[in-house]
Amino acid sequence: MAGDREQKVTPWEARAAEGAAKIDFDKLIRQFGSLRIDQQLLSRIETLTGKPPHHFLRRGIFFSHRDVHTILDSYEKKKPFFLYTGRGPSSEAMHLGHLVPFLFTKYLQDVFDVPLVIQMTDDEKFLWKDLQLEEAHRLAHENAKDIIACGFDPKKTFIFSDLDYMSSCPNFYRNVLRIQKCVTVNQAKGIFGFVDTDCIGKIGFPAVQAAPAFSTSFPSIFAESKEIGCLIPCAIDQDPYFRMTRDVAPRLGFPKPALLHSVFFPALQGSQSKMSSSDPSSSIFLTDTPKQIKQKVLKYAFSGGRDTMEEHRRYGGNPDVDVSYQYLTFFLEDDNRLAQIEQDYRSGKMLTGELKKELVSVLQDLIGQHRERRKAITDDILREFMTPYHHDFYH
Ligand code: TRP
Repeated sequence: MAGDREQKVTPWEARAAEGAAKIDFDKLIRQFGSLRIDQQLLSRIETLTGKPPHHFLRRGIFFSHRDVHTILDSYEKKKPFFLYTGRGPSSEAMHLGHLVPFLFTKYLQDVFDVPLVIQMTDDEKFLWKDLQLEEAHRLAHENAKDIIACGFDPKKTFIFSDLDYMSSCPNFYRNVLRIQKCVTVNQAKGIFGFVDTDCIGKIGFPAVQAAPAFSTSFPSIFAESKEIGCLIPCAIDQDPYFRMTRDVAPRLGFPKPALLHSVFFPALQGSQSKMSSSDPSSSIFLTDTPKQIKQKVLKYAFSGGRDTMEEHRRYGGNPDVDVSYQYLTFFLEDDNRLAQIEQDYRSGKMLTGELKKELVSVLQDLIGQHRERRKAITDDILREFMTPYHHDFYH
């Protein structure tokens, strides 16, 4: 069937076109109508922050945006803005790919020194997955610990479970309703592909993911101010939610949120699909032991190397499809070392085994450090991050 061969990217599914080695992200920019992050934007970020842009920006891992110049304009004029991102807590163990938006958000909070809100959509996962409410709620809190372990500033970060916050903050629910009134079922079907057999909770949910983009949803942080701009770092599959949000914002008198979009974190098996918790052999979890990390990389990481050592030495490997090399572009910060590895692998000087060894040690370090930091997150620390009344920036 022709329809099955096309690339498909929705908030719930991501796969390359049949026969293609990778998801085509340029095509998504054209389809979604966003802008590519270009050198001019990178230079502007560098000038404004006084630091080289994060390697996720330099290496095109965050590759697309909407309206970031508007946010930078307000930052230049010393006008406040805030960051918003989120996580759907569908499983206990987060994987490497889940770290990407949070590591990047941490960088943005550090360089711009702005408040951050993080939405845990336990309600969404209850509606979409085979999960009980209390279990989704528990997972939201477990995952929040992993997020806190990325190093956010407790004085400027509010993490909330929808199940708790929606019922405790009247302003939030009022914004949800305002948004829901602006979007018809037809539009929701067009944007998200809902079908008539979907439960009605799904059709209403996008307004819940949209509401945190408006500052009045957080009266304890932003008082009643309607004017505060919002910047949302997220993987590009979340864009449909925020196209909808940007569409309704002017009608409600709010600024349109700006966006920074990332590519997906590839599955161990290759860049045709993304890492997914529901397929453990595609994923490296933040709870994996050093030994498990090593075994998974050696056994599953798709190799761009040649079939025999002789051929590899003669013709070289292909880092563009090699998953170990791709992972190093996410997590090996040293630009010179990365360039050397690419060159040596392409020329055949470096073998797949050596490349994998390099990755294993980077990941063992990263995950080992994460594990230590997460162990130190007590219930008191969790409560501090999840209590809204702490924050009083713009009072
Ligand atoms: N729907 C997202 C998920 O399933 C969670 C989410 C909520 C989110 N708000 C967000 C992601 C804002 C990025 C930005 O993971």
